[in-house]
Amino acid sequence: MSSTIHVTADPESLAKHACHWLVERIQEHCAASPRPFVLALSGGSTPKRLYQLLGELPDGMVDWSRVVLVWGDERNVPADHADSNFRMVRESLLDSVAIPSSNVLAVPNPGGSASAAATEYEALLAGVKLDCVLLGIGDDVHTASLFPGTKALSEQERSVVANRVDKLDCWRITFTAPFINSAKHVAFLIAGSTKQAALHSLWHGQRDVSQFPSQLIEPSGGKLWFLLDQDALGANAVPAGAEVVSCAS
Ligand code: 6PG
Repeated sequence: MSSTIHVTADPESLAKHACHWLVERIQEHCAASPRPFVLALSGGSTPKRLYQLLGELPDGMVDWSRVVLVWGDERNVPADHADSNFRMVRESLLDSVAIPSSNVLAVPNPGGSASAAATEYEALLAGVKLDCVLLGIGDDVHTASLFPGTKALSEQERSVVANRVDKLDCWRITFTAPFINSAKHVAFLIAGSTKQAALHSLWHGQRDVSQFPSQLIEPSGGKLWFLLDQDALGANAVPAGAEVVSCAS
């Protein structure tokens, strides 16, 4: 699986570069297709600054009426809960852009039955083609809510499932690996030295998707990107065949 790796100096320059990179993907899509650009957002803390920068773009840089936002995973908590990925995106992006509410496809009714929410979300996204999926990586090499040793890792048919994460004593709603891998662009956004070991396991660890779930991410026809800061890359050797671009910004 070849990939393209962009490396910036620090988290702020990574967020700025990722914003520029994403605007390029949106603009090239919109120039070539009448279909809206479907962007799957990642949760957690890393992408927050990127979302803020997207919200601060000059008017017209992105035609938000041509962008549909979906969530690659969600905590099974109400949408106004402090842990909600929707709430994080609302506060960092949605409150700043004029995107039609019909273009914001969040997980329906989180906080109750995770299974019901996942089934409803799967139905809502039926037939949707993912243009870009943003992903983070956990210290345990999870991505989205595909955690080590969990049932969702082996799901090959469904696109969205509820996933019990015993180590966090919680339920999550998550895209499955096959759904993520159907995307045109899959981009890991990773910053900070605490991620070096996880990146090493992903790139150079033994092939063990149960232990290292991020190894499941291999776009079937699309492109795999790593948008990193220098601290996340660290002394890691890049995978064979990877294209590496140093992005000074
Ligand atoms: C979530 C994310 C999760 C996240 C990683 C990295 O809901 O938390 O989808 O997969 O991307 O845990 O999180 P940080 O960016 O906070 O390190």
